[in-house]
Amino acid sequence: MLPTVAWKDGSVVMIDQRRLPGEEVYLTLQGVEEVAQAIEKMAVRGAPAIGITAAYGAALGYRLLGRDDPEAWQETLRRLAATRPTAKNLFWALDRMERFYRQLGGAPYSEKLTALVREAVAIDEEDVEMNRRMGRYGASLFQDGDGILTHCNAGALATGGYGTALGVIRAALEAGKRVHVFADETRPLLQGARLTCWELLRDGIDTTLITDNMAAFLMQKGRVQRVVVGADRITSLGYVANKIGTYGVAVLAKEHGVPFYVAAPFSTFDLSLREGEEIPIEERRGAELLSLQGVTTAPAGVKTWNPAFDVTPPDLISALITERGILFPPYHLSIAEAAARKG
Ligand code: MRU
Repeated sequence: MLPTVAWKDGSVVMIDQRRLPGEEVYLTLQGVEEVAQAIEKMAVRGAPAIGITAAYGAALGYRLLGRDDPEAWQETLRRLAATRPTAKNLFWALDRMERFYRQLGGAPYSEKLTALVREAVAIDEEDVEMNRRMGRYGASLFQDGDGILTHCNAGALATGGYGTALGVIRAALEAGKRVHVFADETRPLLQGARLTCWELLRDGIDTTLITDNMAAFLMQKGRVQRVVVGADRITSLGYVANKIGTYGVAVLAKEHGVPFYVAAPFSTFDLSLREGEEIPIEERRGAELLSLQGVTTAPAGVKTWNPAFDVTPPDLISALITERGILFPPYHLSIAEAAARKG
């Protein structure tokens, strides 16, 4: 399986997703600042993958301290938390590392270091396991011959492996359903074109690339039977933050009577929030809209607005696919019930 991010010989190793699909380049990160910048500059991206990277970054920060210094380690955690604001998984993973550290009490430094590295690896491995479980649940929603539209990249590259939305698609194929994937290009950073198409083709999965503005016509032509996307944060009422453009796809799906599914592990849920407006939405540099792969596409000086995510309201979502089962509306009840039920 594709190693999105890993701990190797005391460093954090990851595939540089900015270089895909042209080049398969691996980065070896030896400092916390490097890890933080890899998240900020999107060498690694996708909510679960960001969380896993932050967990490895936290272990790396502790290793570099060379002694047990809780104050200094807090600084590491704060730097990693300040990278990207929307994906809940980032904060979930850092909280888990911090809580785990506190449980270690007065153990010697070397023991704590080994334990922290193991915990980060566990977060990574559990994510893959959750994706596989989610896939098994989600596959039941698909039928042989379905055309499935997805937006952005919620695949192996966005997770510890296998993927959330793409994991469900992989599981449907493994269950013998011959589904066909339509991948939205996903402007401005092209995660759909560059990453989703790359990893699906690598696995021999039948995939067609469309630009974002083609989804409506594709649905009108009756070629999409389901939509499945990932999520960066889901509130207790079922509002879903995901890559900018997801909301538009959900509106289109409703208009065309196409089921719209969101696949995400519980580490993406933020039960402290209720409404969609409460989710912090990252706004990125306007420069991302002014050029494409180094080629200028808009006049310098034009104003820009570049939100990285949008929020889809629960009434547009047919089901939430989680590792604890498929949740149906009303979400305030099904989410609370699944949250109370462990694992
Ligand atoms: O800005 P990105 O590329 O990190 O955004 C990623 C997405 O929006 C994904 O759909 C989401 O994180 C789910 S990944 C399993």
